[in-house]
Amino acid sequence: MPVDLILGTNNVGPHGKIKTTADLSAILDLYHSLGNKYLDTAYLYPAGYPGESETFLGDLEVTQDGKFVLDTKVRSFEDGAHAADQIYKSVDEQLKRLKVDKVRTLYLHAPDRTVSFEESHKAMNDLYKQGKFERFGISNYQPDEILGFVERAKKYGWVAPCAYEGLYNIFSRRAETELLPIFRKHNIDFYAYSPLASGFFSNIKRNEPPPAGGHFDPTTFNGQFNQGWFFKDALFTAVEELKTVGEKYGISNNAIALRWLRHHSQLSNGDAILVGYSNLGQLKQNLEHLDQGPLPEEIVEVIDKIWDAIEADAPKAAL
Ligand SMILES: NC(=O)c1ccc[n+]([C@@H]2O[C@H](COP(=O)([O-])OP(=O)(O)OC[C@H]3O[C@@H](n4cnc5c(N)ncnc54)[C@H](OP(=O)(O)O)[C@@H]3O)[C@@H](O)[C@H]2O)c1
Repeated sequence: MPVDLILGTNNVGPHGKIKTTADLSAILDLYHSLGNKYLDTAYLYPAGYPGESETFLGDLEVTQDGKFVLDTKVRSFEDGAHAADQIYKSVDEQLKRLKVDKVRTLYLHAPDRTVSFEESHKAMNDLYKQGKFERFGISNYQPDEILGFVERAKKYGWVAPCAYEGLYNIFSRRAETELLPIFRKHNIDFYAYSPLASGFFSNIKRNEPPPAGGHFDPTTFNGQFNQGWFFKDALFTAVEELKTVGEKYGISNNAIALRWLRHHSQLSNGDAILVGYSNLGQLKQNLEHLDQGPLPEEIVEVIDKIWDAIEADAPKAAL
């Protein structure tokens, strides 16, 4: 079984790039027509306008007739967001917005270290027992924190995490050594986000300011975050090296990145790639790349050499 796909929706909503339900509908139709059904959203999507992505998905009643399967993430990235009462409130709002009684995977989106993890885990277990979700997911947690969830689940008989969303792409491979051994040992599926490094491989030029309002715009929280991760000399040089070898074979950087994740990375059965896009055309292109086969051996070798050269400058595996 090939590595699965999950459609991201962090650009969806009136203040995102997919601004209408009609646009989202066309995107979902394309994705579904190619045999896919998993969707990923979050309380926080799109950035700065919480709830808009979930509202669009609810308005389109995407789970009707089992057409799509929903994963979402509770409110996070704010001190106190993972207090039990805040988690209950978040999930209550989210299920109403999505117009469903439960979702497949419910994630804690990122660690809230101002609240004891035991309190947050117990709250998730309460919601699990109430049937609000089928699979407990965590995202962006450090290795010792992941193990803490595994151990508490055993100790108290609580729901254990079985899915993890984390950064993984050709320039962000620390998960291979820091996280994947834990996932394999404890049966946690790995869902790789930002497969195209939020557009860094194709849309960003070393000596030009990044597009205003885009993923690398330094006036936004996300832009500052992404610049911190990717705006390093070694990574800009690596983009050029990738382009050079890709041109020999007529394969773009984005195609290389997606085909590598699907065929050459350490993702395997049960794992998935979170597919990103800002419009229908990008999604179509990305799904075509993902449908193509393994890369020429020389390109895979260059990717490994690049990784050896940039590892020290590469983003961390977790927040
Ligand atoms: N758990 C977490 O903390 C977390 C974090 C990040 C993402 N995610 C999930 O993972 C999903 C995918 O992540 P991502 O959006 O970061 O993925 P990504 O594919 O790395 O980045 C998407 C961006 O890359 C550019 N892009 C995509 N396809 C392109 C193409 N064919 N040609 C040119 N540019 C292209 C677009 O940027 P422009 O807008 O500049 O055109 C697009 O918005 C999200 O939707 C979300 O569901 C989760």
